[in-house]
Amino acid sequence: MENLYISNHPLIQHKLALMRTATTEPKKFRELVHEITNLLIYEATLDLATKEVEVQTPLGSTYGCMLSQRIGLVPILRAGIGMVDAMLDMIPTAQVWHIGLYRDHRTLLPVEYYNKLPVQPTVDVCFVLDPMLATAGSATATVKVLKDWGARQIKYIGLIAAPEGVERLHNEHPDVPIHIAAVDSHLNDMGYIVPGLGDAGDRQFGT
Ligand code: PRP
Ligand code: URA
Repeated sequence: MENLYISNHPLIQHKLALMRTATTEPKKFRELVHEITNLLIYEATLDLATKEVEVQTPLGSTYGCMLSQRIGLVPILRAGIGMVDAMLDMIPTAQVWHIGLYRDHRTLLPVEYYNKLPVQPTVDVCFVLDPMLATAGSATATVKVLKDWGARQIKYIGLIAAPEGVERLHNEHPDVPIHIAAVDSHLNDMGYIVPGLGDAGDRQFGT
Protein backbone atom coordinates (compact mmCIF):
# COMPACT_ATOMS: atom_id res chain seq x y z
CA MET A 1 0.00 0.00 0.00
CA GLU A 2 1.32 3.41 -0.99
CA ASN A 3 2.13 5.74 1.91
CA LEU A 4 2.34 2.88 4.46
CA TYR A 5 5.75 2.50 6.11
CA ILE A 6 6.13 -0.50 8.42
CA SER A 7 9.51 -0.62 10.10
CA ASN A 8 11.22 -3.98 10.30
CA HIS A 9 14.29 -2.48 11.98
CA PRO A 10 15.65 -5.06 14.47
CA LEU A 11 15.89 -2.51 17.31
CA ILE A 12 12.27 -1.50 16.82
CA GLN A 13 11.08 -5.09 16.63
CA HIS A 14 13.08 -6.04 19.77
CA LYS A 15 11.61 -3.14 21.75
CA LEU A 16 8.13 -3.83 20.42
CA ALA A 17 8.28 -7.42 21.71
CA LEU A 18 9.22 -6.10 25.18
CA MET A 19 6.41 -3.55 25.04
CA ARG A 20 3.79 -6.13 24.07
CA THR A 21 4.76 -8.38 27.00
CA ALA A 22 1.92 -8.31 29.54
CA THR A 23 4.27 -8.15 32.56
CA THR A 24 6.17 -5.06 31.32
CA GLU A 25 5.55 -2.39 33.97
CA PRO A 26 4.46 1.20 33.21
CA LYS A 27 7.94 2.72 33.77
CA LYS A 28 9.56 0.33 31.30
CA PHE A 29 6.56 0.60 28.96
CA ARG A 30 6.92 4.42 28.83
CA GLU A 31 10.65 4.10 28.10
CA LEU A 32 9.90 1.72 25.24
CA VAL A 33 7.26 4.04 23.74
CA HIS A 34 9.87 6.81 23.87
CA GLU A 35 12.65 4.70 22.35
CA ILE A 36 10.54 3.24 19.52
CA THR A 37 9.24 6.70 18.66
CA ASN A 38 12.82 7.97 18.55
CA LEU A 39 13.65 5.31 15.99
CA LEU A 40 10.46 5.77 13.90
CA ILE A 41 11.09 9.51 13.57
CA TYR A 42 14.17 8.95 11.44
CA GLU A 43 12.20 7.62 8.48
CA ALA A 44 9.13 9.79 9.07
CA THR A 45 11.21 12.97 8.78
CA LEU A 46 13.29 11.97 5.73
CA ASP A 47 11.47 14.35 3.39
CA LEU A 48 11.35 17.45 5.61
CA ALA A 49 12.40 20.55 3.70
CA THR A 50 15.67 22.30 4.50
CA LYS A 51 17.21 25.65 3.60
CA GLU A 52 20.84 26.49 3.11
CA VAL A 53 22.41 28.57 5.87
CA GLU A 54 25.85 30.04 6.33
CA VAL A 55 27.58 28.97 9.56
CA GLN A 56 30.84 30.03 11.16
CA THR A 57 33.01 27.17 12.36
CA PRO A 58 36.05 27.85 14.58
CA LEU A 59 38.11 27.71 11.36
CA GLY A 60 36.02 29.69 8.90
CA SER A 61 32.66 29.93 7.24
CA THR A 62 30.75 27.24 5.36
CA TYR A 63 27.25 26.33 4.32
CA GLY A 64 24.91 23.86 6.00
CA CYS A 65 21.23 22.95 5.96
CA MET A 66 18.56 23.64 8.55
CA LEU A 67 14.89 22.73 8.74
CA SER A 68 12.84 25.31 6.89
CA GLN A 69 9.31 24.25 7.85
CA ARG A 70 7.41 24.92 11.04
CA ILE A 71 6.76 21.55 12.65
CA GLY A 72 3.67 20.71 14.73
CA LEU A 73 3.33 17.68 16.97
CA VAL A 74 -0.25 16.62 17.54
CA PRO A 75 -0.49 13.96 20.26
CA ILE A 76 -3.93 12.40 20.68
CA LEU A 77 -4.70 12.33 24.41
CA ARG A 78 -3.97 10.39 26.40
CA ALA A 79 -1.71 7.77 24.89
CA GLY A 80 -0.04 10.04 22.33
CA ILE A 81 1.53 12.08 25.16
CA GLY A 82 4.14 9.36 25.63
CA MET A 83 5.50 9.98 22.13
CA VAL A 84 5.96 13.75 22.43
CA ASP A 85 9.27 13.96 24.29
CA ALA A 86 10.89 11.54 21.85
CA MET A 87 9.91 13.86 18.99
CA LEU A 88 11.04 16.95 20.91
CA ASP A 89 14.44 15.29 21.52
CA MET A 90 15.00 15.51 17.76
CA ILE A 91 12.95 18.60 16.88
CA PRO A 92 13.11 20.82 19.96
CA THR A 93 11.59 23.79 18.13
CA ALA A 94 8.38 21.92 17.28
CA GLN A 95 5.05 23.25 18.51
CA VAL A 96 2.84 20.81 20.45
CA TRP A 97 -0.90 20.97 19.88
CA HIS A 98 -2.88 18.45 21.96
CA ILE A 99 -6.12 16.94 20.70
CA GLY A 100 -8.28 15.22 23.31
CA LEU A 101 -10.32 12.29 22.05
CA TYR A 102 -11.53 9.17 23.75
CA ARG A 103 -13.16 6.17 22.19
CA ASP A 104 -16.69 5.51 23.44
CA HIS A 105 -16.47 1.93 24.71
CA ARG A 106 -19.92 1.03 23.39
CA THR A 107 -19.94 2.65 19.94
CA LEU A 108 -16.11 2.79 19.45
CA LEU A 109 -16.66 6.27 18.01
CA PRO A 110 -14.24 9.07 19.00
CA VAL A 111 -15.56 11.74 21.35
CA GLU A 112 -13.64 15.04 21.19
CA TYR A 113 -13.05 16.78 24.54
CA TYR A 114 -10.01 19.03 24.04
CA ASN A 115 -8.93 21.22 21.14
CA LYS A 116 -7.19 24.58 21.60
CA LEU A 117 -5.96 25.06 18.04
CA PRO A 118 -5.78 28.76 17.17
CA VAL A 119 -7.88 30.10 14.30
CA GLN A 120 -5.05 30.14 11.75
CA PRO A 121 -2.58 27.28 11.21
CA THR A 122 0.80 28.04 12.78
CA VAL A 123 2.73 25.08 11.36
CA ASP A 124 3.61 23.70 7.93
CA VAL A 125 3.85 19.99 8.79
CA CYS A 126 1.80 18.15 11.43
CA PHE A 127 2.83 14.84 12.98
CA VAL A 128 -0.20 13.07 14.50
CA LEU A 129 1.07 10.91 17.38
CA ASP A 130 -0.89 7.98 18.79
CA PRO A 131 0.50 4.53 19.61
CA MET A 132 -2.61 2.60 18.52
CA LEU A 133 -4.44 2.68 15.18
CA ALA A 134 -7.40 0.39 15.82
CA THR A 135 -10.64 1.33 13.98
CA ALA A 136 -8.86 4.59 12.98
CA GLY A 137 -11.84 6.59 14.26
CA SER A 138 -9.52 8.72 16.44
CA ALA A 139 -6.86 9.18 13.74
CA THR A 140 -9.28 10.06 10.93
CA ALA A 141 -11.14 12.51 13.21
CA THR A 142 -7.84 14.18 14.16
CA VAL A 143 -6.66 14.45 10.56
CA LYS A 144 -10.01 16.01 9.64
CA VAL A 145 -9.66 18.56 12.49
CA LEU A 146 -6.19 19.44 11.19
CA LYS A 147 -7.32 19.72 7.57
CA ASP A 148 -10.27 21.92 8.60
CA TRP A 149 -7.72 24.04 10.50
CA GLY A 150 -5.80 24.50 7.23
CA ALA A 151 -2.91 22.07 7.74
CA ARG A 152 -1.49 21.08 4.35
CA GLN A 153 1.02 18.34 5.17
CA ILE A 154 0.06 15.73 7.76
CA LYS A 155 1.85 12.52 8.78
CA TYR A 156 0.72 9.82 11.21
CA ILE A 157 3.21 8.08 13.51
CA GLY A 158 2.01 5.10 15.56
CA LEU A 159 3.34 1.92 17.08
CA ILE A 160 0.79 -0.82 16.34
CA ALA A 161 -2.04 -0.83 13.80
CA ALA A 162 -4.88 -3.17 12.88
CA PRO A 163 -5.31 -3.82 9.15
CA GLU A 164 -8.81 -2.35 9.45
CA GLY A 165 -7.39 0.92 10.81
CA VAL A 166 -4.68 1.20 8.16
CA GLU A 167 -7.24 0.65 5.41
CA ARG A 168 -9.67 3.24 6.79
CA LEU A 169 -7.07 5.95 7.43
CA HIS A 170 -5.60 5.35 3.98
CA ASN A 171 -9.01 5.38 2.25
CA GLU A 172 -10.20 8.56 3.98
CA HIS A 173 -6.85 10.39 3.84
CA PRO A 174 -4.63 8.81 1.16
CA ASP A 175 -2.32 11.83 1.31
CA VAL A 176 -1.32 11.05 4.92
CA PRO A 177 1.71 8.75 5.22
CA ILE A 178 1.35 6.12 7.95
CA HIS A 179 4.55 5.27 9.84
CA ILE A 180 4.10 2.28 12.11
CA ALA A 181 6.18 -0.39 13.85
CA ALA A 182 3.76 -3.26 13.19
CA VAL A 183 0.45 -4.15 11.55
CA ASP A 184 -1.19 -6.89 13.59
CA SER A 185 -3.74 -9.59 12.81
CA HIS A 186 -7.19 -8.05 13.44
CA LEU A 187 -9.52 -6.19 15.81
CA ASN A 188 -11.51 -8.20 18.36
CA ASP A 189 -15.21 -7.53 18.95
CA MET A 190 -14.31 -4.94 21.63
CA GLY A 191 -12.25 -2.99 19.07
CA TYR A 192 -8.87 -4.01 20.54
CA ILE A 193 -5.94 -4.87 18.34
CA VAL A 194 -4.99 -8.58 18.46
CA PRO A 195 -2.36 -9.49 19.56
CA GLY A 196 -1.57 -5.78 20.17
CA LEU A 197 -0.50 -4.76 23.64
CA GLY A 198 -3.78 -3.99 25.41
CA ASP A 199 -4.74 -0.41 26.28
CA ALA A 200 -1.79 1.86 25.50
CA GLY A 201 -3.04 4.66 27.78
CA ASP A 202 -3.60 2.37 30.77
CA ARG A 203 -0.25 0.64 30.29
CA GLN A 204 1.67 3.92 30.14
CA PHE A 205 -0.07 5.61 33.03
CA GLY A 206 -0.70 2.62 35.30
CA THR A 207 -4.47 3.08 35.28
C1 PRP B 1 -6.88 4.64 22.33
C2 PRP B 1 -5.65 4.97 21.51
C3 PRP B 1 -6.22 5.70 20.34
C4 PRP B 1 -7.54 5.02 20.13
C5 PRP B 1 -7.41 4.09 18.98
O1 PRP B 1 -7.29 5.73 23.05
O2 PRP B 1 -4.70 5.71 22.21
O3 PRP B 1 -6.41 7.08 20.56
O4 PRP B 1 -7.82 4.28 21.33
O5 PRP B 1 -8.62 3.51 18.68
P1 PRP B 1 -9.40 3.83 17.32
O6 PRP B 1 -8.39 3.71 16.24
O7 PRP B 1 -10.44 2.74 17.28
O8 PRP B 1 -9.99 5.19 17.41
P2 PRP B 1 -8.55 5.68 24.04
O9 PRP B 1 -9.78 6.08 23.33
O10 PRP B 1 -8.58 4.35 24.75
O11 PRP B 1 -8.24 6.85 25.04
P3 PRP B 1 -7.06 7.02 26.08
O12 PRP B 1 -5.79 7.27 25.28
O13 PRP B 1 -7.49 8.20 26.85
O14 PRP B 1 -6.97 5.76 26.90
N1 URA C 1 -6.69 1.44 21.92
C1 URA C 1 -5.72 0.80 22.61
O1 URA C 1 -5.09 1.39 23.49
N2 URA C 1 -5.47 -0.48 22.30
C2 URA C 1 -6.14 -1.14 21.34
O2 URA C 1 -5.83 -2.33 21.11
C3 URA C 1 -7.14 -0.47 20.64
C4 URA C 1 -7.38 0.83 20.95
